[in-house]
Amino acid sequence: MTNIGSYDERLEAFCWSIAEEELDYSDAETKNIGWYCSDRICRMGKSGKPALIWEGHDGTMKQYTFNDVRLASNTIGNFLKNLGLKNEDRVCLFMDKIPELYFSFLGVLKIGAIVQPLFSAFGDESLHVRLANAETKAIITQRKHVGKVRRILDQSPYLKHIIIVDYDGKHPLREREIVFNLEESIPVEEFDIFPVNTESPSVLHYTSGTTGQPKGVKHVHYSLISQYLTTKWVLDLQDDDRYWCTADPGWVTGTSYGIIGPWSLGVTQCVLDKGFSAENWYQFIEKYNISVWYSAPTAIRSLMKAGDEIVKKYNLSSLRHLASVGEPLNAEAVIWSEKVYGLPFLDTYWQTETGSIMISNFPGMPIRPGSMGKPFPGIVGTIVNTKSFEPLEIPGDIGLIAFKPGWPAMMRNYWNNEETYQSKFKNGWYIPGDRARLDSDGYFWFVGRDDDVINTAGHLVSPFEVESALLETEQVAESAVVSKPDEINMEVVKAFVTLKPGFTPSPDTELKIMNYIRKKLSPLAMPQEIEFVKSLPKTRSGKIMRRLLHAQEWGEEIGDTSTLEDED
Ligand code: PRX
Repeated sequence: MTNIGSYDERLEAFCWSIAEEELDYSDAETKNIGWYCSDRICRMGKSGKPALIWEGHDGTMKQYTFNDVRLASNTIGNFLKNLGLKNEDRVCLFMDKIPELYFSFLGVLKIGAIVQPLFSAFGDESLHVRLANAETKAIITQRKHVGKVRRILDQSPYLKHIIIVDYDGKHPLREREIVFNLEESIPVEEFDIFPVNTESPSVLHYTSGTTGQPKGVKHVHYSLISQYLTTKWVLDLQDDDRYWCTADPGWVTGTSYGIIGPWSLGVTQCVLDKGFSAENWYQFIEKYNISVWYSAPTAIRSLMKAGDEIVKKYNLSSLRHLASVGEPLNAEAVIWSEKVYGLPFLDTYWQTETGSIMISNFPGMPIRPGSMGKPFPGIVGTIVNTKSFEPLEIPGDIGLIAFKPGWPAMMRNYWNNEETYQSKFKNGWYIPGDRARLDSDGYFWFVGRDDDVINTAGHLVSPFEVESALLETEQVAESAVVSKPDEINMEVVKAFVTLKPGFTPSPDTELKIMNYIRKKLSPLAMPQEIEFVKSLPKTRSGKIMRRLLHAQEWGEEIGDTSTLEDED
């Protein structure tokens, strides 16, 4: 029996209060997500149940109960409080997927501060712009990443504390650095959890847009309501499950469904802090008897590429439910997974901004491979005309995805960017910026993004950010960045550049430019290909015509270039 039961029946009788009642929300002593994910679970009699089973890249394995999580997050919260950090201060988590990352997430929330998780592979500039935008007061990090923080310190006067969780005493600490060692700290049994209210800010995730700097998506503690119920009904987590969410908590999937969802349900989750390979992943599933697996299309396509034979070497019989998010999930991948695992990957669609799953294939519902499924009960979703923002009448017509605002996990704002936030609402709808079509049975089919943002391996990259970074290299005079198709990552970053006088196109120049971007932004943003051109196509007023280059890469009709030339 699935948690959701019948989708149609749930749809008819839906109210978010279902989650509030299950969570005893109105009577709870606090609305703090930190409390909900640890203390409350212990109070429900699960203090000895494993909360986290963790394996590191060197094979080290660690296991923590819900009581361990409660104590660790209390201890971190207490440490932060003693540093003078308080509610609504921004605290950045800049770590690999180590246990401290998961505990710190709850610890920061427990003092009422705002967690700002950042992907640890970010380079100096990516880190800097996000910290500067949020005026982050403290960063919790590891020795291996502290160099990046040191390099931006002069430009970061707001950053008061750099907390290192694995300091080995070998090198002297520098200005503003301080050590926190969880294993050597005295566990804090009783901690005064900050009494947030439903609208208190909780998590600040940064996401890239087409133009301008990345935007800080502000969520509040009330997001728990959506995250709890979608985890329960879509991911179908049950008490004896072993759950694996492969996403990094630097991104929203890794927090909404890699921390808050499973732990608010008191479910054991497993984390592998190791690079991808089919062997590593299958071994992990077999060793820890993973039953529910939430992953992403790029990983699934890579597993497909690794072939069917390797699957047979492992006992994957513990698996009972698979789901995917982040990019379009090809019908072939769904069909393939059903063939080799005996289970289809169920596609789910949502965004950093939506905070929780919006459209999905539900357990027990007939799935249509290649479709994202139907809206979660309580979510009113449709397809609207790209200009009038009126719902489209004819099934099958392509338009923009649109949701009626008001679900619990909806972002409350972009950090200090009210204008961009308001621009996301049209004619009473929230417009995520994706094109899709709706079939006559109410299934959504993804078509593409409605902007130039590149989705590479499920990660959004702003072409503008890469173009700006390219111009900072000593070689590049002009740049235009677009996506190009890729078998595994769906799309990758491609740059067209003209060179400054004195530089000539060569593999060496290409490598130097690529490395610069990797270090400054991140490996994801690094162009996989750089094409040296004599000039870039421009509009009459000198704006680079990215759309033309995009069409060229994707083999699409370029259309009437005279109109493109008029675009500004
Ligand atoms: O374009 C859509 C794509 O990823 C975008 C959201 O990215 P982000 O905020 O980084 O969050 C990713 C994880 C929740 C969307 O606007 N996207 C997400 N899921 C799907 C998808 N595209 C197609 N199919 C999906 N299932």
